[in-house]
Amino acid sequence: MKIAVVGTGYVGLVSGACFSEMGVDVTCVDIDEAKIEGLKQGIIPIYEPGLKNIVVRNHDAGRLHFTTDLPSVLNDMDMVFIAVGTPSDEDGNAEMKYVWKVTETIGDHIDKPLLIVTKSTVPVGTSHRIKERVQKRLDRRGLSNLGFDVASNPEFLKEGAAVDDFMSPDRVVVGVESERAKELMTRLYRPFLLNNFRVIFMDILSSEMTKYASNAMLATRISFMNDIANLCERVGADVNMVRRGIGSDTRIGKNFLYPGCGYGGSCFPKDVKAIIKVAENAGYEMSVLKAVEQVNENQKKILFQKFSEFFNGVVEGKTVAVWGLSFKPETDDVRDAPALQLIDSLLESNVNVRAYDPAAMDEAKKRLNDKIYYAKDIYDAANNADALIVPTEWKEFRLPNWEILKKIMRTHLVIDGRNIYNKEDLFSYGFGYRGIGL
Ligand code: UDX
Repeated sequence: MKIAVVGTGYVGLVSGACFSEMGVDVTCVDIDEAKIEGLKQGIIPIYEPGLKNIVVRNHDAGRLHFTTDLPSVLNDMDMVFIAVGTPSDEDGNAEMKYVWKVTETIGDHIDKPLLIVTKSTVPVGTSHRIKERVQKRLDRRGLSNLGFDVASNPEFLKEGAAVDDFMSPDRVVVGVESERAKELMTRLYRPFLLNNFRVIFMDILSSEMTKYASNAMLATRISFMNDIANLCERVGADVNMVRRGIGSDTRIGKNFLYPGCGYGGSCFPKDVKAIIKVAENAGYEMSVLKAVEQVNENQKKILFQKFSEFFNGVVEGKTVAVWGLSFKPETDDVRDAPALQLIDSLLESNVNVRAYDPAAMDEAKKRLNDKIYYAKDIYDAANNADALIVPTEWKEFRLPNWEILKKIMRTHLVIDGRNIYNKEDLFSYGFGYRGIGL
């Protein structure tokens, strides 16, 4: 089987690499020449555990190819996956220009009945619009009866665990409208789910909706728990206990109930916005999701508020150590990261920031330039600090040497945005502690 994957971002590169790992002949396509040249030499543009090995191994084995020239490879393929970005535009709609560009290239160059699969997260109805646009171009080329198929195959992988998620998915969702498409997709995914085949076939619109609904549900759980945590603080309850109490009900389940300083990343903020817009365009209001978004906006301000409250609003000239810049551990992605919002507020109040992150320093530098100090390690960041704030729960932050920190910090305050520390432990070392909902 031969497939092309267009777009070498998170979804495209991980999908392409993992398909090739199963023996499929994969060509990854991107318009960014530097990126493609880099990939040929094993330079991976994103930090993702395990990805480099798979890319290099399969490229060396001749199963994974990289090119900027989609037209020249298109007609060698059985399927082409569209995995280009769909960031939010100014109004919160999914930005579709990259998807349409690829669609046009396909329409202008196919001359055999390919299966065109949408992997990007796209508004409901997009696969059908792709079909119409390709057909229009075929009509113009006098190839009206070529007969191609479209399918929707949303991706549910998590950054930082993308390779594992892709290789052992909970389930694969596929929207199809022909037996041929169903048969091809079954063949492609069977190796991933040999012992427990969990490909859920459905119609295309439902498949596109499933992706948005999935991310929206997860974002809802987080905002719900953040709301509960904020209430816990006010009534003296402990959200960790409440979380364990409710999570042990199998109807609720224990995953994705962690309160914190808000969700970030490339998916939840953008997809929640997009589904609200999809609804608006369909004449419906998503009241729950609007609240989910609002709670998250407020929650991203909470670390700064706790810091400011501790010093009764007098923070100018203070120094803060920020541990963690990425939106979550095991990634260098800082898109919509709560840490960056915190740093913006600190800088606006003329607070000095000393930041450390195991992977995301370079990405943060692109946004913050020399406005903050980039520390060598966690202790360098904490030097002379008036507070230590932790927006990201990297493993290496979990068991620091509190005695050293006690010596080097000016004020002994820890603001824990992910509830990774034990309050009593910190009290015993003489630190003030603020968590989320504790
Ligand atoms: C998410 C979805 O999990 C994935 O299925 C989809 O394909 C893309 O979006 P990702 O953005 O990589 O993946 O990260 P995820 O691990 O889901 O975390 C998202 C955000 O939610 C992070 O900022 C994280 O800190 C936050 N989060 C997660 C919480 O605040 N509490 C939780 O209990 C879980």
